Amino acid sequence: MTHVLLITSSPRGADSLSSRFATEIAEGIKASSAGTLKVRDLIADPLPHITSAYIQGRLTAPENRTPDQVAAVALAQELVDELKAADIVVIGSGMINFGPSSQLKAWFDHVTWPSVTFAYDDNGPKGLLTGKKTYLVAAAGGVFSEGIWAAFDFQSNYLLHLLSFIGLSDVEMVCVEGTVFGPDAAKAAIANTEAAVQVLLNKAA
Ligand SMILES: Cc1cc2nc3c(=O)[nH]c(=O)nc-3n(C[C@H](O)[C@H](O)[C@H](O)COP(=O)(O)O)c2cc1C
Repeated sequence: MTHVLLITSSPRGADSLSSRFATEIAEGIKASSAGTLKVRDLIADPLPHITSAYIQGRLTAPENRTPDQVAAVALAQELVDELKAADIVVIGSGMINFGPSSQLKAWFDHVTWPSVTFAYDDNGPKGLLTGKKTYLVAAAGGVFSEGIWAAFDFQSNYLLHLLSFIGLSDVEMVCVEGTVFGPDAAKAAIANTEAAVQVLLNKAA
């Protein structure tokens, strides 16, 4: 049975296009595969920033951890376990100041974990979360998939790099962009994304 993990991270609430399309993809795949779905809503249930309790806790043997370290490592372990359990990961990300939201950055800071989700060998870094498909919905007000602003896309480039770094290198990206150039442009961008999501879901079914 296919197990889907949906991660949403836009602080724009019900207006969020990344959450809307990521949810549509996750629910569509769940329905077509008669699978299961776990939702990790990073806005409703925000993660703390990582602290020394987490960083030192990771380096400390379990039996020697302080209570703060135990709690910090347990939270990160819960997030990693959610990822490991998933066959398919769907992530919704809305651009905030040219990068992902700080809520999504906090999630990556928890799950990017030496010897757990990545390691180094003679060939360099090796992601350890292999064999999963990832769908990334990246929303932005401007257009970053091409043209002069592409160099400033610190959202998709960062997310694609981090996903691959931890082993999630089979990524299909859906962009919803160019929504700040007036209502007609926004309508067209949303219609294009809706069409792309339908193609993706037909392919995934
Ligand atoms: C606080 C804030 C910062 C934003 N920063 C950018 C930005 O740097 N570049 C951009 O093109 N759009 C920016 N936007 C527009 C969002 O990327 C756009 O609304 C996108 O759809 C957000 O994703 P969402 O629909 O999933 O919330 C910003 C929006 C907000 C609310």
